[in-house]
Amino acid sequence: MANGRRKDEWEEPPTGFVAEANITERDADAFPEAGWPACWEAAADLLEWDRPYDDVLDDDGTTCWFPGGRLNAASNCVDRHVAADRGDETAIIWEGKLEETRTYTYRELYAEVNAFAAALRDLGVGEDDVVTIYLPMVPELPIAMLACARIGAPHSVVFAGFSADALATRMSGADSEYLVTCDGYYRRGTALDLKHMADNACLSVEQSIERVIVNRLHDDIPAGDHHAFDDLVADHAGTEIAPVERDVDDLLFLIYTSGTTGEPTLVRHTTGGYLAHVAWTSHAVFDLMPDDVLWCSADVGWITGHSYTVYGPLSIGATTVLYEGTPDHPEKDRLWEVIDRNDVNVFYTAPTSIRAFMKWGSEYPDRHDLSSLRLLGSVGEPIDETTWQWYREHVGGGECPVVDTWWQTETGGVVLSTLPGVDSMQPGAVGRSLPGVEAAVVDGLGKPVDSGLPGELVLTRPWPGMAKSLCEQTDWGGRRTRTADGDWQYETGDKAVRDGDGYLHLRGRADDVFNVSGHRLSSTEIESAIVGVEGVAEAAVVGRSDTVKGMAVHAFVSPESNVAGDDALRDQIERAVESAIGAIAVPHTVTFAPSLPKTRSGKVVRRYLEAIANGEDLGDTSALRNPEIVGELESLLEQ
Ligand code: PRX
Repeated sequence: MANGRRKDEWEEPPTGFVAEANITERDADAFPEAGWPACWEAAADLLEWDRPYDDVLDDDGTTCWFPGGRLNAASNCVDRHVAADRGDETAIIWEGKLEETRTYTYRELYAEVNAFAAALRDLGVGEDDVVTIYLPMVPELPIAMLACARIGAPHSVVFAGFSADALATRMSGADSEYLVTCDGYYRRGTALDLKHMADNACLSVEQSIERVIVNRLHDDIPAGDHHAFDDLVADHAGTEIAPVERDVDDLLFLIYTSGTTGEPTLVRHTTGGYLAHVAWTSHAVFDLMPDDVLWCSADVGWITGHSYTVYGPLSIGATTVLYEGTPDHPEKDRLWEVIDRNDVNVFYTAPTSIRAFMKWGSEYPDRHDLSSLRLLGSVGEPIDETTWQWYREHVGGGECPVVDTWWQTETGGVVLSTLPGVDSMQPGAVGRSLPGVEAAVVDGLGKPVDSGLPGELVLTRPWPGMAKSLCEQTDWGGRRTRTADGDWQYETGDKAVRDGDGYLHLRGRADDVFNVSGHRLSSTEIESAIVGVEGVAEAAVVGRSDTVKGMAVHAFVSPESNVAGDDALRDQIERAVESAIGAIAVPHTVTFAPSLPKTRSGKVVRRYLEAIANGEDLGDTSALRNPEIVGELESLLEQ
């Protein structure tokens, strides 16, 4: 709804919650008085600095947060909690597939991280060497990340669902000579051979790769050109490695994401700004307290897991849940059972999952005592009002605030959300920007549009969690950070409307990027894989609305004139996408077409294909070189 819901239909935060919240109305009132960027000091104050920072932001005002500061992210996430006598508190609860569980106290985590850090050093990893981590949701994943952070080696985690080719591209791009992976993992009860994928990736990169293998399947791993994770940790047990003091602006990690080009975009995050941002938003948005148990259901291979499974909750000293399985295995009440058994207080998931839970029915959450929950979060795509209400009612028992959090890989942490102890919640809207963040909705020239009108969402001031590339470059990954008149403005690529109350309503992407079941994909990347198939002349990929996934991938493919668009070709296309990117990117629908709608200059008009895939009205198509194709495609889809 463009102008938002009437205020009497908004939901107020529960009074009990407000009374105990980390951020109250009084704090929120004080932020504007502190001025920008001074209000970000509260974020930096949540961390322990080896050398205090000289200023909140450098003189240039855009390039470096907390200049002069030095710190170590792993010591902030582990050591200081042990030093504060919280070593016996639980840091990680791992819920494995096959009903295994494992917990690590902060003291145990400290021991594991130190031992693996020592092992990495022995393997030759030095400060600033990039270590690639290609692991499913096992405890060795956060342990390896923290071990890297401890010795100042940026990690580059590659989602385990990506293919060997995708892994190879990311290892080459990051010039990484170290890989931590595993033999395999279980997905829906079947063991997948990850080592084989990793071996293939290592064969296709130029550099030689030192490999560490986690034994996840508990089978013997044939001896080979690798080191066993468990042996390394056992050999270095008890070794302590002094955390390397990092400059605030030194890299903590690299992460690849889908951009608007055919190649994945490399995003680099810094140690100080990023960590301050995720610690602060865990505290302010998720209201996380050290005694809380937080479960962020995203895979750690994505930014959401980096920020709110690993660095955010551990920097606060809370307990984080790492879940390996799927939500419906062995039964559709699995998540609720995990929440019940572990007394989870904060649960963070994506609307695509909530819509699946809704479809399965409320009897599954109803089977469990979910009263430990005190806050719910949503991320990844717009959450419609019905889904929001269901989540609040059936998961939150009507008692928990629901925060709809908007952010991106590039922003590092949440930038738009309500503050749960302060702001009213408007189901279907993300709320305003957080204190210290400034957002605007602009037209094609970068000028603000009136409330109620659609435009592109831009952030008009820097924030600590922003990617380093964003500070350094004015034009990066298809995103600009300068307007024509020189003002700083980050183009997010998202469409939005601001309502009369200042709340933002997100409307999906304005570019060629889309989110399918929480995975960020680029149509250009998928198209490059499809046109690589012999017999394919052209391809265009668009997102189609899907009631559960949010978006489904729809490919329009035009075969060469003597080639049939048949099941065999479809099969080859699917295999090509799976091998270039991974199963997550395989089109849900492939429509073979004699040609694609084009402008007179020969550019494929995706906008029309998107409308056709979504069964929408196309409006005037007379500017096309081949308007007749539109009707042909529509009738092809009707068949
Ligand atoms: O389109 C927006 C959508 O997810 C994109 C960012 O994807 P990624 O970098 O993979 O990060 C995912 C999680 C942080 C955004 O450009 N998005 C994320 N959160 C929301 C959202 N769309 C609407 N509402 C949200 N709360």
